[in-house]
Amino acid sequence: MFPGNFFWGGATAANQFEGGWKLGGKGAACADYLSSGSYAETRKITHTIREDLKYPSHEAADFYHHYKEDIKLLAEAGFKMFRLSINWTRIFPTGMEDAPNEEGLQFYDYVFDELIKNKIQPLVTINHFDIPIALCEKYNGWESRELIDLFYKHCKTIFTRYKDKVKYWLTFNEINTALLELGSYLSLGLRNEEEEEFLKQTDNPELRFQALHHQFVASAKAVKLAHEINPDFKMGCMISYMPRYPRTCNPEDVLAAKQEENMKVHFCGDVQVKGYYPYYALSYMKKNEINIKILPGDNEILKQGTVDFYSFSYYLSLCISADPQYAGTGKCYVGGAENPYLKATDWGMQIDPAGLRITLNDLYARYNIPLLVVENGYGAYDKIEKDGSIKDSYRIDYLKRHILEMEKSIEDGVDLIGYTIWGCIDLVSASTGEMAKRYGIIYVNKYDDGTGDFKRIKKKSFDWYKGVIASNGRNLE
Ligand code: BG6
Repeated sequence: MFPGNFFWGGATAANQFEGGWKLGGKGAACADYLSSGSYAETRKITHTIREDLKYPSHEAADFYHHYKEDIKLLAEAGFKMFRLSINWTRIFPTGMEDAPNEEGLQFYDYVFDELIKNKIQPLVTINHFDIPIALCEKYNGWESRELIDLFYKHCKTIFTRYKDKVKYWLTFNEINTALLELGSYLSLGLRNEEEEEFLKQTDNPELRFQALHHQFVASAKAVKLAHEINPDFKMGCMISYMPRYPRTCNPEDVLAAKQEENMKVHFCGDVQVKGYYPYYALSYMKKNEINIKILPGDNEILKQGTVDFYSFSYYLSLCISADPQYAGTGKCYVGGAENPYLKATDWGMQIDPAGLRITLNDLYARYNIPLLVVENGYGAYDKIEKDGSIKDSYRIDYLKRHILEMEKSIEDGVDLIGYTIWGCIDLVSASTGEMAKRYGIIYVNKYDDGTGDFKRIKKKSFDWYKGVIASNGRNLE
């Protein structure tokens, strides 16, 4: 049974949802320079806004103009929590101003007021793939320690301003995407001299680890500051969680899976929850000749800024083999071997509801702090029927199976406090830049060729999720 105060809800991110990229004094962010595309085509990281390309973040789903209507719909569905991110460049357009942009601050005041009026708890991601482009140009993003202080100033501004409106915060979205080559740009703001294809960025692992260290320090400082500004604040980390299964019971596969899970999944959570670099990460860096600068005092800061709860995204599991011939056979953009027991989405994500229960149990055993699933969902091509309805039974099935596993985890004894489904209102995909890959229970009439009027349409899953929330997870039909 789900606890009575369980946070049922949905999640979004400003760069994929908000639009209004030049309105209200907003500056440009790294996402605003990433063109649309798909795996078949190419997405480009550009250095200027090019006429021949489309940039999906510029309009996205236009939450900027639709927030009242959207929040009304979320309230109708019975949402208890809504996850959104604050666009850094709405508050500090270049990241370097001394004073914040009042119009940007006001926008989020309106949004939070609307949520509170509708009894929906905001959950705010401070940084979700959004770095002021001016900081990429001047400092190469998080390569520079300068960003720690600039981020601190931003945090101080928003913590102070919203201290009576927001209680739950996440510092960096999927901080461990910095460990993927494609995390270089969106997650860390690292760019190269030449314009590059998003999925083929030049990789410099040492730089990624250095930039990630700066984010660890920035996150810990933010957590400490948050608790000083309001001791009631609850601060969380946010990890992209993809459990790694061994492809066979051959001990070599088991070891390969464990090592990859440690580095790609647990490393960042360990730093943010326990407050120090785990032994396996230190030895990985040594073996791979990754030498980063950790300044005196940094380790102290990490200890002082540990998080109150652990949040994560969960979409799929991966299969790992020690034998290189299986690498990539799973067809997922993050690699891995095919798992014959699982079906995949059209984008190669291997659907694994039981993996969520395994994950929740592993995490709770490891950390013993409250857990929050802040992303989970089914990205699919939705079709509007002749009568205007959208019959997304596949999404209902996906969500239902994951909810059942969460319930079992709670019965296992896991302290799970909430579940916010990803892209509850259709938005732009982070990895492919498409609108066509839809996750929502609410459809947004907007298409990849730039057409569409942003009209919101409830899908079949809307009424279904409303019933789930109203029955606190008892009615899944
Ligand atoms: C997570 C991100 O990686 O997964 C989101 O936090 C993203 O920003 C989501 O949108 C789903 O991935 P995608 O690539 O299908 O949009």
